[in-house]
Amino acid sequence: MKSLTLKSYGKVNLGLQVLGKRKDGYHEIETVLTTVDLYDEIILTPSREGIRVRTDHPNLPTDERNLVYQAARLLFKSPYLPPLSKGRKGDFHEGVEIFIRKRIPIGGGLGGGSSNGATVLKGLSDLFQIPLSNGDLMELAKELGSDLPFFLKGGTALATGRGETLQSLSHPLPFWLVIVYPGFPISTPWAYRKLDLTIPHQSLKILVEAIEKGDLSTVASKLNNSFEEVMFRDCPALKVVKERLLCHGALGASLSGSGSSCFGICEDGDSALRIASHFGNNRKWKLERMRSLPVIFEGDSEFIVVVTKTLREV
Ligand code: C5P
Repeated sequence: MKSLTLKSYGKVNLGLQVLGKRKDGYHEIETVLTTVDLYDEIILTPSREGIRVRTDHPNLPTDERNLVYQAARLLFKSPYLPPLSKGRKGDFHEGVEIFIRKRIPIGGGLGGGSSNGATVLKGLSDLFQIPLSNGDLMELAKELGSDLPFFLKGGTALATGRGETLQSLSHPLPFWLVIVYPGFPISTPWAYRKLDLTIPHQSLKILVEAIEKGDLSTVASKLNNSFEEVMFRDCPALKVVKERLLCHGALGASLSGSGSSCFGICEDGDSALRIASHFGNNRKWKLERMRSLPVIFEGDSEFIVVVTKTLREV
């Protein structure tokens, strides 16, 4: 059986409101997520040696802490495996090698880990022709994490509950973004623990309507994120990034997820490249050569700066 090479896309949150704590320990949220054209590459190769994860990134765990490992384990254990091939010695269902070429910054609020998990769930069920309906895949995705269901579908969606209940948003407008990862990760559980839940939350109604109408300036002016206040207080560097995005011409800017990345919405591709170049300091970026997406700048400062677009579908 051949290998399968897949793109595992990241996301940004155009709005994210934490409504309160739930009895199960999670938080009730309302969030608008949109897929961005920044992706990790995942190669699945059937193997006879169990589940093995490899990556080109030095800080990514390759054991069971990695969601791709958990996704593969869940699928291999699931009752959906065709019984014919289930325990036969040497059969392809005995294992898979998963290689992750990592480009989405880790702990950046861009959903890289969840996206990788969802991509592997879907990819393995295709590769091994496991007869799973979309509903079955959604159930498995929910078990692995709150954001995984979104990554099975992609596009733009309003997510509620703990993030797993999705309503797709129609006709979302593709637009240009500059995403700035400040060089350090933020742990999501830690960020949730820090939140002040007494702060009143905002409605996402106008944002959602503006997305569906393709009204970019209203989208940009209605970006919001419950984590900003506490994260900007604890990590002032993040506030500076947001302010710089705005002062260099972004139409709107926000923290993504629980951080650490901030993104700015830009008028067009040229303005996105111009705004990105302000984070370059002494770097000599050859912008004219950067024609394909995403444009990723990694240089002498710790920032990773990405110029990309939102994606209507994956
Ligand atoms: O669901 P997931 O495993 O991605 O969540 C990671 C952690 O983030 C949870 O263990 C929890 O601490 C926090 N979380 C939360 N409420 C949510 C989503 C995540 O408290 N709606």
